[in-house]
Amino acid sequence: MSITINYNNMMQSFIGDKGITDKQLKDVQSCAKKAYDTVESNRGKDMHGWMSSPYDQDEVAERIVELATKLRKTCKYFVVLGIGGSALGPIAVFTAMKHLYYNELSDSKRNGPKFYVIDNVDPERMQALFDVIELEHTVFNVITKSGATSETMSQYLIVMYMLTKRYGKDANKHIVATTSQHKGNLIKLAQKEGFETFYIPEGVGGRFSELSPVGLFPAAMLDIDIKELLRGAREMDAICRTADMSRNPALITAALHYISIGQGKNITVMMPYADSLKYIADWYCQLSAESLGKAVDLQGKTVNVGQTPVKSLGVTDQHSQVQLYTEGPFDKIITFIEVKNYRNEVVIPEGCQQFPDVNFLCGHSLNELISTELYATRYALTKQQRSNYTIVLDKVDEYHLGALLYLFQMQTAYIGAMLNINTYNQPGVEEGKNATYALFGRKGYEAKAQELKNAKKEESKYIVK
Ligand code: PA5
Repeated sequence: MSITINYNNMMQSFIGDKGITDKQLKDVQSCAKKAYDTVESNRGKDMHGWMSSPYDQDEVAERIVELATKLRKTCKYFVVLGIGGSALGPIAVFTAMKHLYYNELSDSKRNGPKFYVIDNVDPERMQALFDVIELEHTVFNVITKSGATSETMSQYLIVMYMLTKRYGKDANKHIVATTSQHKGNLIKLAQKEGFETFYIPEGVGGRFSELSPVGLFPAAMLDIDIKELLRGAREMDAICRTADMSRNPALITAALHYISIGQGKNITVMMPYADSLKYIADWYCQLSAESLGKAVDLQGKTVNVGQTPVKSLGVTDQHSQVQLYTEGPFDKIITFIEVKNYRNEVVIPEGCQQFPDVNFLCGHSLNELISTELYATRYALTKQQRSNYTIVLDKVDEYHLGALLYLFQMQTAYIGAMLNINTYNQPGVEEGKNATYALFGRKGYEAKAQELKNAKKEESKYIVK
């Protein structure tokens, strides 16, 4: 496994008094060990079902590959309908593994269906989808663990209406459902309509579900090697089976985040230097925000914790965000993801001899340029005492990707345990969901509707026209 963590620039010896001391790292060890024990003792239980995902998917992976292979023969458009944990993982893995202009490739170069993820209910987006797909050649993967999410179920209703109008009973051939086996409406619909169905294990929450059928089926539809994804996750899991922080990459990074939170560094910036990993940052943002942004601890004490995650892309955001990171408040830590070997090499040709300020680039490669810019940005930040650490990936392939996803999941679980919070609920999201149900007149939400009716009315003096 060639994933390494370089956290020199988190330490006082590199960034001065804004950094972490060896003593602080030593002192946090018992808390980290406790977190490790908590996570390990829950392995596979309750909402820690995701820790079993790398091991117990062999059978379902076979079925996934079998169905994907069959559907890929005729499917020209593959559309995921889902939101949050049911969308961000598939987008992240697709972007990491496929051509960066995949949908624009010719059919023969793409050699698979075009891919779309509709994770919003913006009517313009939905209409735009229907403008580019041909229903006849489209497979929709409806993904919702609860089987109740308004956004996904609205999309389902729209798609099913169109399919039924056109194909009658055969509409079901265009839908694959991914949902809970025992609860929610989608499973009932799937049984009634006869959809191909994959189950999301109960102990696997949305944001921890990429290595379950939620992520595996879309990946297989795109001819991504899901067995390698799972193998990478398994190997990372094996590496993480020690409470020794110096050997467990998820535990040491969890400890770094935990100490940083104590230092008031309440922002976590994820900055990969690879376009292919841009949406891994997006996926990470949800994982961190929904898991660790909590009002109360496990004893009900108000804590209001969580680092605000920010996605950033190297080198692009050097020209937008890095000014702030270098000179703004000392309130953030930056995680760089460095890729040692890009899948292409592009050389900057000779030219502009008369302009030495341009000509110095010639003969180098974009590979050298992006790596050098990462080095230089890290240097500039470190010089200004800015906390940063780097995850170094040998290359972006299924194996390293599986390992990286699993690393972040473990890190999140450890940080949650160190903060003594419930990593797996999302009460802050529920309130908005319930208000939407009430405003739409859903049965059972009458009291909430009344509460909304009684809410303070907006004042016109605060509205500028
Ligand atoms: O991480 C989570 O639990 C959430 O982001 C869910 O994935 C999201 O709300 C969608 O839920 P569901 O899969 O039930 O439609």
